[in-house]
Amino acid sequence: MSCMEKLYHLLENARMHNLTQSVLSFGRQRCMLETEAFLLSNATGRVLDVGGGTNRYGHIFKNNYFVLGDLNTAYVSYAKQKDARLNAVVFDATRMPFKKGFFDTIISVGLFHHMSDSDVCRSIDECLAILALNGKLVFIDAFLPHSRYDFIVWFLAKIDRGRYMRALPNFLKVIETKNRSIRFKQIENSYPWNLVGFVINNVEKD
Ligand SMILES: C[S@@+](CC[C@H](N)C(=O)[O-])C[C@H]1O[C@@H](n2cnc3c(N)ncnc32)[C@H](O)[C@@H]1O
Repeated sequence: MSCMEKLYHLLENARMHNLTQSVLSFGRQRCMLETEAFLLSNATGRVLDVGGGTNRYGHIFKNNYFVLGDLNTAYVSYAKQKDARLNAVVFDATRMPFKKGFFDTIISVGLFHHMSDSDVCRSIDECLAILALNGKLVFIDAFLPHSRYDFIVWFLAKIDRGRYMRALPNFLKVIETKNRSIRFKQIENSYPWNLVGFVINNVEKD
């Protein structure tokens, strides 16, 4: 096992994951606030957090019916230990155990750079299937820097556990289909991460 693999393995532990998230968020209060504001301003009704980890964002959906889901059993158990009333489910984002049209909003932060192009497409299709008509898929992800000379952003992107960190135009090619309505915007104050927020409306298909 290489050093990086050992480190990644360590980060599968919920406490280690939380610790690194806290260290990486240190001094980045404005970015967190922008992230939360973006998620909250686009959310209504029943909310599902896909790839929600140890439940960093559940607290902003106190007034919603909220469900956390993640592939990592240790993260989900940890979140459940912290809040026994939390609805938390272990699932793969490409196969989710919910009824069609059940959620009004699906949020996700930092998930898609962990998934191959085909899994991203599968996961987005799956999200749209379990969203109500006119529901919203609201997600934020990290991207490679616009300039190849932006060494700090490159470095952070390259050491990230996500194996599929992409440039924004490449990601757009993956997710754009002809009848999909997609909006996106840079998350303010996210430097040295290049974070972009997306909203896909679940509009009626013809
Ligand atoms: C960078 S972490 C982000 C966690 C959380 N959203 C946050 O912002 O703190 C990415 C998360 O995606 C989860 N994940 C990766 N692949 C997944 C998949 N196929 N299905 C569900 N969750 C997945 C990981 O277990 C991890 O919790």
